[in-house]
Amino acid sequence: MALIGMMGSGKSTVGFWLAQSEGLRFVDLDAAIEERQGRSVPEIFEADGEDGFREMEQSELAACLAAPQPMVVACGGGAVLRAENRELLRHRAWVCWLRATIDTLGQRVRAGENRPLLGDDPMADLAAIGAARAGLYTETAHEIIDVDGMEAQHVADQIRRVWPRTVSAR
Ligand code: S3P
Repeated sequence: MALIGMMGSGKSTVGFWLAQSEGLRFVDLDAAIEERQGRSVPEIFEADGEDGFREMEQSELAACLAAPQPMVVACGGGAVLRAENRELLRHRAWVCWLRATIDTLGQRVRAGENRPLLGDDPMADLAAIGAARAGLYTETAHEIIDVDGMEAQHVADQIRRVWPRTVSAR
């Protein structure tokens, strides 16, 4: 199972709870990249640019989705930007989009160290990025959950109810 959505939508926290309750391995894609690289995401953006980071993100995602055991993968918000990733996600995973309004995202996201794509006006940036990606999230997701006002555990419960585990454990 893969969780997609904007930064601040709760993918990592929800993914952690889901994996915990289902007894599955949990992979946070950003954390996996940071571990492999021995550098933080902002450091990677700084040194290698966004393209460099996207390259690493694509390999990490492909490696996760090729693994034999089912797992919960929390993708970075921009993982849907590459057509190859969308294709892979769509066919190798059951994908859930954690959809949130810009207000919700803005409350959860603080501009700073961990958000290299956000500048001085994070709300405006989130709105622009969200608008540009909405179609990509829609085309990649098998299911959409609106997470506004919901605690992470409640979101995880809702996903467990709609996750078609009989069709595919992924
Ligand atoms: C990004 C989201 C971040 C991280 C990187 C780029 C994006 O992950 O991958 O800063 O393009 O939306 P989160 O969505 O986990 O914050």
